[in-house]
Amino acid sequence: MQNGIFVPEEEIKRQLAIAREVRSLIGEGKKVFVSTFGCQQNEADSERLLGLASLMGYTKAESIDDAQLIIFNTCAIREHAELKALSKAGALRKIKERDKSVITAVCGCMAEQPHRREQILKSYPYIDIIFGTDRLHTLPETVKNAILGEKHGVYISGGSHDEFGTVAEGVPSLRESSYKAWVPIMYGCNNFCSYCVVPYVRGRERSRKSKDVLAEIEGLVKSGYKDITLLGQNVNSYDGDLSFPKLLEKAAGFEGDYLLRFMTSHPKDATRELVDVMASSPKIAPHFHLPMQSGDNRILKMMNRRYTVEQYMEKAAYIREKLPDAALTSDIICGFPTETEEEFENTLKAVDAVGFDMLFAFVYSPRPGTPAAKMEQIPHEVKTARFARLSELENKRASELNRRFAGRTLKVLSDGCENGIYTGRTGHNKIITFALPEGFPEEKAKSGRFLNVRVDGVQAYTLSGTAEKEQI
Ligand code: 5AD
Ligand code: SF4
Repeated sequence: MQNGIFVPEEEIKRQLAIAREVRSLIGEGKKVFVSTFGCQQNEADSERLLGLASLMGYTKAESIDDAQLIIFNTCAIREHAELKALSKAGALRKIKERDKSVITAVCGCMAEQPHRREQILKSYPYIDIIFGTDRLHTLPETVKNAILGEKHGVYISGGSHDEFGTVAEGVPSLRESSYKAWVPIMYGCNNFCSYCVVPYVRGRERSRKSKDVLAEIEGLVKSGYKDITLLGQNVNSYDGDLSFPKLLEKAAGFEGDYLLRFMTSHPKDATRELVDVMASSPKIAPHFHLPMQSGDNRILKMMNRRYTVEQYMEKAAYIREKLPDAALTSDIICGFPTETEEEFENTLKAVDAVGFDMLFAFVYSPRPGTPAAKMEQIPHEVKTARFARLSELENKRASELNRRFAGRTLKVLSDGCENGIYTGRTGHNKIITFALPEGFPEEKAKSGRFLNVRVDGVQAYTLSGTAEKEQI
């Protein structure tokens, strides 16, 4: 579904013109507060919301109480994420009571679900605007309408889920960091894993054009960005006139010192070609996030994952063969409907066998409208007990694996110094704290600088070390 998905340039121009109109409507000194829940895609979206808000004349508020425009960019992946956003949204009532002119908006994945929209309209009448994941670029119009008195503006694409989803180029981004950047390359998901709400709230897969993606990356590298993450629900489905491995290869071809990352890969589509491209360039971070979800074939089938444990193992083995030192990380869902004790133990065995540097383990959360929500559910205590067992195993495996870094010198991107402690991140995506040796210029260790750190301490998920005077 690539045709007709691009928001016409004129429409973006119209929104940017409305943004300037809003600027003259609101006057000086107004502030915006964007609260982001969920994944990196939402963080990237929030940076665009801030970019648009900044065009409208809003500057970033330090706290929600200082803001005249408040946006909740929500997540729906698990119930917990939704409840968190709803409880925070409840606090907007007081803010609205104090000052009616404050504009409040809820967007993102939760807003995309009809039952949540109904709930917001009914129980949160102080929310002025609700807009969907593919209407982000219309923020100026929605805010203008709210300023002019529109109550409960709902901006959702409507139509069936077979159709929805857009790509909007040319929306400005106000990036959180001056050296780390998100670059969405594709949006939506067509996989319909049976537990997952994403295909319903993010719409059909659609890709940005490779020339737009590459121009953005080149611009970021030129302006000094050092850590660039290509984002997509399933980056291997990228289909913007190049395959994902080819895009990655080109993205790694710009002059400059930077690291490229990508998230997330679906195991069924992660190809050898992709692993080969990773192995061919030092600019591509040696980190592969490959969600396994379960280590049992019956459960994988029920999840509609379309690979077997054996196929997963084969991919992991190829990664290990070509990138022996790379960090491998994964997602696992504990207590998927009907999962037996034995099936869960198969997951433990598979996790033990692969050896992940880090696992994101989740307690299964039924999502309304997904097939798995209608299957026979497992008691909550059983799910949480399995989660605890998996976490215990992973803590052990991660500590063992992290030992490979002891005594080594790693290239680290500094996140600067707080309370006397320097932290940074390695290409393997490990957090590392480090000290500066006598005489080491602080300037060289400030955030956004690469430096070499010799590892002298190894914890389960983090490292510690001392900066080296000599650059590798
Ligand atoms: N319950 C628990 N975890 C889930 N995930 C997706 N949907 C659910 C759900 N309903 C997890 C998957 C996915 C990660 C982003 O969130 O492991 O890879
Ligand atoms: Fe959800 Fe599966 Fe799509 Fe990932 S691949 S977003 S888990 S449906």
